[in-house]
Parts: sequence; C-alpha cells; structure tokens
Amino acid sequence: MKTRVIKITQDNLAQTAREAAEVWKSGGLAAFPTETVYGLGGNGLDPEASGRIYAAKGRPSDNPLILHIAKLEQLAPLVRKTDDRVLALAEAFWPGPLTMILPKADQVPCETTGGLDTVAVRMPSHPVARVLLEEAGLAIAAPSANLSGRPSPTSAGHVIEDMDGRIDMIIDGGDVGIGVESTIVDLSSETPVLLRPGFITLQMLEQVLGRVETDAAVYRQVGKDVHPKAPGMKYRHYAPRAGMVLVEGASDQVIDYINRETAKLQKQGKRVGVMATDESRALYRADVILSAGSRTSMESIAHNLFRILRQFDETQVDFIYSESFDSDGCGFAVMNRLLKAAGHQVVKLS
Ligand code: TXA
Ligand code: MG
Repeated sequence: MKTRVIKITQDNLAQTAREAAEVWKSGGLAAFPTETVYGLGGNGLDPEASGRIYAAKGRPSDNPLILHIAKLEQLAPLVRKTDDRVLALAEAFWPGPLTMILPKADQVPCETTGGLDTVAVRMPSHPVARVLLEEAGLAIAAPSANLSGRPSPTSAGHVIEDMDGRIDMIIDGGDVGIGVESTIVDLSSETPVLLRPGFITLQMLEQVLGRVETDAAVYRQVGKDVHPKAPGMKYRHYAPRAGMVLVEGASDQVIDYINRETAKLQKQGKRVGVMATDESRALYRADVILSAGSRTSMESIAHNLFRILRQFDETQVDFIYSESFDSDGCGFAVMNRLLKAAGHQVVKLS
C-alpha cells in the first residue's frame, strides 16, 4: 500500500480534513497528531476498520481501542449511561488528555472494544485532531500509531518509521506537546479507578471525583496476583531493543553505580547507553548518553521520553541504564512508562 504523507500548513488543513474523512468513511486508516501522541485512526463503529488497525499495528485483538470524538453530544450514543461524574470530568478536562471507560452501547462493535462490555472515549484538544474529527463526524478509534511493542510516536517521523506502507495516510502536524498517552479512568463501576497515569494527574482527578483507586498494574509487574483492568497494561510496551534497567537512589549513588557497571560491561566489549537528565549528563562515562530533560520539569521529561527511547534504538547500544524519578504528579506517568520499558527491572540503591 502507498502511504500518503501530508504536512499540515495554514492553507491545507480544511482540504486535508475532507480527505481524511473520506479515508475513514471508506474504511481506511489515517494517522493524525493529538496533544498526547500520534493516533492511528479508523472508523470505530466499523468492525472491519478496527480489524485493519490491529493488523497495521500487529496488535493482539484483545487489546481495546479508544474512541475519539469532537463534541460532547457524540458521547451519549456510544455508552449505555453517563452520570454526574462523567459530566464533571468532561467539564474539567475535555477537550484534553483524559480517557473515560464506560459501559458500551450496542452499536459499538466488540472488535473495537476487544470483546469487553465497556468502551474507552476521549475528546482530544490538539487543533488538527479537532478539525479532522469535526469534519468526519465519526467516533474515530485510534491507538497510538506505533507498531505494537515500540515506543508511542511523538512526531510524524516516528509514525512514518513504523507505518509507512501499512496505512492510507499520515497527517504531519509537527511534534506533539505532552508526549505520553492520555490518563485513563474507569467509571464503569462505583469507585473510579485510574488505569493509566498521564498528564491529568491522580490529584487532579481526585479534585473532581473524590477518592480514586489506582489499578495495581500501574506500578507493579503484571503476573499471577496482578490482573490489569486495561488489557494493554499487560503487554511489554515502549520497549527499546536493548535491555534496560532503572536505577533508584540518591543522585550521587546512582551516577557512581551506573559508571561502575558501565565500565564492567565495556570491558566485555558491550556498548552502554545512559538515560540521564540535564543535571547529570556530564557525569557519565557511557558510550551514548541522552538527557530526558531537566529534573526541574517533569513535563519536559514526559515530552522527551519516547523520542529518547527510539533514539537509543538507532545507536546500537547493548544495554541501557536509566535514572528514575519521583512518582508524584506527572512523574507517575513517566515512571509507569519507564517501568514498562525496563520490563520492571529496577536496581534499588541504599
Ligand atoms: O493518548 C492516547 O490515549 C492515545 C492517543 C492516540 O489518543 N491513544 C492511546 O491508545 O494511547 P492505545 O490503544 O495505545 O492505548 C489504549 C489503552 C490500552 O492500554 C487499552 O488496553 C486501554 O486503553 N483500554 C481501551 N479500552 C479499554 C476498556 N474498555 N477497558 C479498559 N482499558 C481499555
Ligand atoms: Mg499504545
């Protein structure tokens, strides 16, 4: 399949939106920017389009898709019921990086929800996404536009790497702002449950909802006693090709430890990468040292994280050490993605 790549300019947005709507209405796939990561869009109410999404990503079909809408009126027909919590969250955070899980209406096909009785819905705020979704007037199913298992795409270049030749169209709206996927909150039962942390933090949700539980799979490895409510959380995601270990502890200790282990591996002829921060990058002696950003801004680290993980893949390192971060606020989202990237391999110092 030939994939058309269209770079959005001031002049071509309306025309591109008409073309994307045509692709979607005829069952095809178009990737587009959102404020979190790029999405791989198809008509979410068309089971065959959902099937094409799974095929293009190489994604297991039990891992459900998020429906993207432009207006609040589009929500009611997709779900069996809404309530005050839903409206309060929509009021506070939509359009924006929040996904809500609700009981699904009959018209939402099982192919889209991975066989579940619930559906995930979000209203993105990215200006290009909004114009596309408004023009199409459809609920667009869009997982992150990466091949299954690779870091989510934060630029059109990443989407081209993974999806060229596999989908109809890639809409290039530049680099995304946030860089980690939306926060997911499950409202299908009485107590709201955080299934995936993101830019909208647990504290922000609790301000609107009161108490919110956190699914154990957010911070612990899925296994015998941890069953994630979001099927996607059980797969090893965001994985760089090289093995990766997170190192936790006081900054000096972490740097010493990583330098010592790096020297050992280098003696065995291995190339070592370090995911550092602006504050520490000059202190490492690895083969490839990439800074995720400054510790003074967790938002900047979230923004850079997936790009850096992809960059490590290009540098042919055999092993990656990463610094770790405090899990409060937006740091929760960063640590959740890092733990998954590292397959929960953590060295705790002290
Ligand atoms: O920011 C985002 O949410 C991006 C952009 C493109 O909007 N999309 C995204 O989609 O991250 P995806 O498919 O990569 O991740 C969706 C996650 C998966 O972990 C999936 O298991 C979970 O949402 N999910 C979807 N529907 C669900 C449901 N009904 N119940 C529980 N989890 C669900
Ligand atoms: Mg994804």
